[in-house]
Amino acid sequence: MLLRIGSITVQPGVALAPMAGVGDHSFRVLAREQGCPLVYTEMISAKGLVMSGRRYGSLLYFTDRERPIGFQLFGSEPAIMAEAACILEEHGADFIDLNLGCPTPKITRNSEGGALMLNPSLCAKIFRTVVRAVSCPVTVKLRAGWDEKSVNAAEIAGLAEESGIRAVAVHGRTVRQGYSGRADWNVIRQVKSVLSIPVIGNGDVDSPRAAEDMFGYCGCDGVMIGRAARGNPWIFRDVVSCLQGKKVPPPPSVAEIIDMALKHFKLLIELKGEPVAAREMRRHAVWYIKGMKGAAAVRQRLIRIKSFNEAEKILRDFAEAGENPPPC
Ligand SMILES: Cc1cc2nc3c(=O)[nH]c(=O)nc-3n(C[C@H](O)[C@H](O)[C@H](O)COP(=O)(O)O)c2cc1C
Repeated sequence: MLLRIGSITVQPGVALAPMAGVGDHSFRVLAREQGCPLVYTEMISAKGLVMSGRRYGSLLYFTDRERPIGFQLFGSEPAIMAEAACILEEHGADFIDLNLGCPTPKITRNSEGGALMLNPSLCAKIFRTVVRAVSCPVTVKLRAGWDEKSVNAAEIAGLAEESGIRAVAVHGRTVRQGYSGRADWNVIRQVKSVLSIPVIGNGDVDSPRAAEDMFGYCGCDGVMIGRAARGNPWIFRDVVSCLQGKKVPPPPSVAEIIDMALKHFKLLIELKGEPVAAREMRRHAVWYIKGMKGAAAVRQRLIRIKSFNEAEKILRDFAEAGENPPPC
């Protein structure tokens, strides 16, 4: 369960997945505080970064307490990807991760993200060019393949290894699958069996048990957790405790959940200002209370919040109103 990415050592190999619109500085800090050993940024457009003259606002913001941190890039032009990687290295990235998995049509239409899975020779060119451009480790996050007829994760991962990529994260769904169905852990297992560099498994890890199962079944060096962390940074505490052979702590109380949501909101306000933070907090707040008794009714109010005070009142009233058992 020891994960090595170049000279970076992560023990146990557990990571917060890159998540656009979710995994900004505010959320990464909370994940780290709950023991998450490794975090990734949201994906960043290589072209956008190069063209913006390095001004990229909150997307690039991080602090030392998030380290080790991987900055994820998406794009398709090797030279631009390399230039963007240099900017990120200079900015302080511990490693650069290349996105080969985003299924959003806006991205794949430009042959970026998951569409790169259709073009192994371009992938190899991007890998080599970026690896040559920076001195920090470069990693790749890919999908099983474009669709079920073209599952080629092992081929692309092999090219990555040959090109000097230091670790590969595999999301066991095809690009065409998006987030539907189950992730195919056989693909992760297959990639692990052909690579010498570390493999991080990803897809459907939502509990300590699932993390253990993924390590056991796939033989991978790390696991990456995405959706299950939304509104639940405690998942890292639980997974790490379990992997270390310690007792999984009891679930947080309702009061602790509400405190965490409000702390998240405060961090978001510092990062983006109250109006933007309030808009973004609407979805986070709903994730925090998901599964609790009465959550559906309070959700209607949370999706309209405009300020911290408003959110605090709704959430505190909610906590006081019911005998809410914590979500399982
Ligand atoms: C809201 C959201 C945003 C995402 N953004 C990114 C991203 O920026 N880069 C990336 O490589 N994957 C992204 N993903 C995919 C996740 O990193 C991960 O591969 C996927 O959610 C499967 O893992 P899970 O089953 O643990 O959620 C995103 C997923 C979600 C749900």
